[in-house]
Amino acid sequence: MFDFKLYAERRRHLQTTMQRGIAIIATAPEVARNADAHYDYRHDSHFYYLGGFPEPEAVLVLLAGEKPQGILFCREKNSEREIWDGFRYGPEAAREQFGFDAAYPIAQLDEKLTELMGDQPLLFYPVGADADWDARIIRLREAVKAKARSGIRAPNEIRDVREPLNEMRLFKDAHEQDIMRRAAAISCAAHRRAMRFTRPGLHEYEIEAEFLHEFCRHGARHPAYTSIIAGGANACTLHYVGNNARLNDGELLLIDAGCELDGYAADITRTFPVNGKFSAAQKDVYEIVLTAQLAAIAAAKPGNTWNAPHEAALNILAQGFIDLKLCQGSLESVLETESYKQFYMHRTGHWLGMDVHDVGEYKIGTQWRTLQPGMTLTVEPGCYIRPGDSVPQALWNIGIRIEDDILITANGNEVLTQDAPKTVADIETLMQR
Ligand code: GLY
Ligand code: MN
Ligand code: MN
Repeated sequence: MFDFKLYAERRRHLQTTMQRGIAIIATAPEVARNADAHYDYRHDSHFYYLGGFPEPEAVLVLLAGEKPQGILFCREKNSEREIWDGFRYGPEAAREQFGFDAAYPIAQLDEKLTELMGDQPLLFYPVGADADWDARIIRLREAVKAKARSGIRAPNEIRDVREPLNEMRLFKDAHEQDIMRRAAAISCAAHRRAMRFTRPGLHEYEIEAEFLHEFCRHGARHPAYTSIIAGGANACTLHYVGNNARLNDGELLLIDAGCELDGYAADITRTFPVNGKFSAAQKDVYEIVLTAQLAAIAAAKPGNTWNAPHEAALNILAQGFIDLKLCQGSLESVLETESYKQFYMHRTGHWLGMDVHDVGEYKIGTQWRTLQPGMTLTVEPGCYIRPGDSVPQALWNIGIRIEDDILITANGNEVLTQDAPKTVADIETLMQR
């Protein structure tokens, strides 16, 4: 049976942070793909984080204060619909199995909300995240206001529930860390599978198929984001998702792909030669990106700021670009003028969790925040060399990124994705086998 204690603790934590008032958090809607077919359903991350309830058409309501309560609204049992679409918990079983204080049919939501909002001083919900919900909340609050003559007051202040929630989600508990380790392990296995499978003449989508196969056979039915399978010059398009080109002898293949497991993402990039052996020019660029990545990982430790890994990577990349004659001038001037941005135009990472670009502030006030144990982030420097007049021709169309997932620990960090090979020697050995 589902262990709901962990989720109940998260709800209690949020209620304590709220101190008073009511919070309303809906899960994501189903989205039509065509006619009667829907996109694969994905819950809302905040909603799932607080309850673990997997069905669409559900809303969580929390009351804070002296008598905190967690209330679920969900679909009713429906024998006809269950024949077609499968099992639904229904309010009674949902309350029991997911540990809510009460549960009601979703059809009663508006009516119950006007009751529950009464005399609550504060109203928390994801303000501005969804226009329909914004309108609904305003309408319901007006309905409560109409009861003023009965002595019932409506919430006089609305706050964004995502502010406390984002901060909670930024720190991964042991349960979350365990899932992320498993998501990372499955994704690493997929990258190894792709390295073994790749050879000239295949198409990018054939490599994509290897990823989907490896994810799915381990129970991770969906990629955490659309896989980027970018051969040759395609690697210089940062969000390339065409995945339909032929892989040619002598080119590199950049793959940015990770699975979602139990609602948590892995996000890994590896770049390797289509024919299994790096050319001299490819290797020169690759070693610079790898050195930058290792320096950034070393800087990802408690007490350092969020920006420390980026700065560590940038210093090495900028010097490397000078050595490769991509950039001119001193290291100071390349950093100062940001001329490196022609070849490295993104940042070195992001928070990682339920969302691949996960929630959480990067700055507190004007200062980069300090890294602390339990935070998870990516470290992903790269180099993308498009053809150009002043660009050495031997380097044209080389696009490289190396991305790992990092858990900050008390003593430093744990690289969750270390089982995906990334040294030249390890990649060439695996591909030659
Ligand atoms: N795969 C998205 C990213 O690396 O940020
Ligand atoms: Mn990525
Ligand atoms: Mn990433």
